[in-house]
Amino acid sequence: MARTRSPSGNLPAEITSFVGRRQQLGEIRKKLTAARLVSLVGPGGAGKSRLALRIAADLARGFADGAWWVELAEVRDGALVANSVVAALDLRDQAGTQPAQILASYLRDKRLLLVVDNCEHLLGEAAQLVAEVLRAAPNVRVITTSREPLQVPGEQVVAVPPLELPAGNGTESLARLRQNEAVMLFTERAAAASGAFELTAENRAAIVGLCRRLDGLPLAIELAAVRTRALAVAQILERLSDRFALLTGGGRVALPRHQTLETTIDWSYELLGDGEKTLLRRLCVFAGRFTLEDVEAVCTSDDLPAAEVLDTMTSLVDKSLVTKQDVRSHASYRLHETMREYATLKLRDAHEERVLEERCLEYYRATCLQSVDQARYRLVDWLAWADLEIDNIRAVLHQCVARGDLARGLDIAASMGYYWITHGTTESTRWLDQLLGAENVAPATQVRAYYLRGWLSLLQADAATARPWIARAVTTAREKGQLTKLSESLSIAATVE
Ligand SMILES: Nc1ncnc2c1ncn2[C@@H]1O[C@H](COP(=O)(O)OP(=O)(O)O)[C@@H](O)[C@H]1O
Ligand SMILES: [Mg+2]
Repeated sequence: MARTRSPSGNLPAEITSFVGRRQQLGEIRKKLTAARLVSLVGPGGAGKSRLALRIAADLARGFADGAWWVELAEVRDGALVANSVVAALDLRDQAGTQPAQILASYLRDKRLLLVVDNCEHLLGEAAQLVAEVLRAAPNVRVITTSREPLQVPGEQVVAVPPLELPAGNGTESLARLRQNEAVMLFTERAAAASGAFELTAENRAAIVGLCRRLDGLPLAIELAAVRTRALAVAQILERLSDRFALLTGGGRVALPRHQTLETTIDWSYELLGDGEKTLLRRLCVFAGRFTLEDVEAVCTSDDLPAAEVLDTMTSLVDKSLVTKQDVRSHASYRLHETMREYATLKLRDAHEERVLEERCLEYYRATCLQSVDQARYRLVDWLAWADLEIDNIRAVLHQCVARGDLARGLDIAASMGYYWITHGTTESTRWLDQLLGAENVAPATQVRAYYLRGWLSLLQADAATARPWIARAVTTAREKGQLTKLSESLSIAATVE
C-alpha cells in the first residue's frame, strides 16, 4: 500500500530543562480536546512560549500531519502573517494565489497542530488568519501565545501564571521546596551556570526570597540564577532588592510584572562588561535570528573588534541574555522580545541607532549582491541562508522604503529572486512595485529587477503584465551591455511572445 508522507513538524528543540507546569499542561490538554483554539496569555517572560512548545511536543504524535511552529516575534509587518505560516509549513508560494488561500487549501484535509507564537504585536492580523484556518480546516487545532487574547470565536484562553512560588514563612521542608516550580528553575539554572549548586538549609531563605521577589517570572529567575557563578544567593537578593526598593520608594509593594522583569534585565545589564553591553544593545538591529557572521559584520567597532565577538556572544548566551538556537546544524541566535525592547532603548540612549541601521542595511545589501549570481549553483544552501535571514532582510527593505532609499532597496529586493519565486510571489511583487521607481540604479540591478518583475507576473499567469517588463529587461540589458542578463531576458522573452 502506498504510504503518504507524514511530516512530523518543525518544533524547535528544547535546549534547557523544562520545569513544572503540570497543572497548566493538564488544563491546556483538556481545553484543546474540547476546543480547536487555545490561547496562552500572560506577561512577557512568564513562560508562554516554553509551555506552548512543551505541550506541542507532548501532543504532536496524536496529529497525523504533525505539529508546526510559527514564530511571529520577528515579523514586523501584519501583512506577512500568512506568509510566515506558509513558510513555516514549508509550502511554496509560487503562484498568484494569496498566502491565506494557499493555507486554506493545503490545510483543508490535514490533521495537524499549529502553534502561532508571540502574536501580541500583530493581534488583529493573527486573529484573522487563525479564524480563517479554523474555518477552512476542520482537523487543525491551534495554540497561540500572546500577551492578550486573540478574540476569535471559540477561543479558549489559558492565563499563564508565573511559576508556583514557595511560601515566604520558611515552614516548608527542604524536600517540599525542591519540588517547588520557581525554586526548581532557580536551582537548575544556577547549577547549569556554576557547575554545582544545591538548595541547602543555609541558602534556602535567600532562594525563597529571591523567587518571591522575582514574582516567579521564569525569565527573571534565569537572569538571576546565572549570577550564582560569582555571587552568593543572598548577595543577589540584596542587590536586586535595592533596585526594587528604589522603584517602590523603599516599601515592599509588589511591582507590576513587566516592571519586575525590566528591572531584573536592567540589573543584569549593569553587571556586564563594557564589550558585552555594547554588543547586547547593538544586537537589536537584527529584526530576526542572526548568525555570528552577521554580528561580526554589523556590530563591531574599535572598542568591540570582530576577534572578540565570539567570546562576547558566548558570554551573553551563558548569562541568558541571548538565546542560541541551531537551525539545520547552523548556530543562530535571537533575543527574547522583552530583551530586544530593552536593547532598543539602550541603543537609542547610546545614539548608535542610525549608525547601526545603516551598517545593517549596507551589510545585507552587499551580501545579497555578492551571492545573487552564485545562488543558482548552490540553491539549497542559498535558500537556507535566505530562510534564516528573511526577517532581517524584510526589516531592511522596510527601512529603505520608509526613507525613500529606493535604489539600495531595489539592489536587495532584486537579488532575492530565488527566495521570492519559491516563497513569496505576492510579497515580492509588492516590494518591487514600491521600489521600481528608484533613480540612479546600477545597470545590473535594473535589468535584474525588470526581469524578476516580469517573471513574477508569469508565475501569476499574467503574461500581459509580464511582457512589457521583460521587454524593458531586454532593452536595458542591451543598452548597458549586460550580456549574460541579455541572454536570460531574451530566453524568457521567447516564452511570452
Ligand atoms: N516551565 C519552564 N521550565 C523551564 N524554563 C522555562 C519554563 N518557562 C519558561 N522558561 C524559560 O524562561 C524564559 C522565558 O520564557 P518564555 O516562554 O520565552 O516566556 P514568554 O513566551 O511568556 O515571554 C525562557 O528562557 C524559557 O526557556
Ligand atoms: Mg514568547
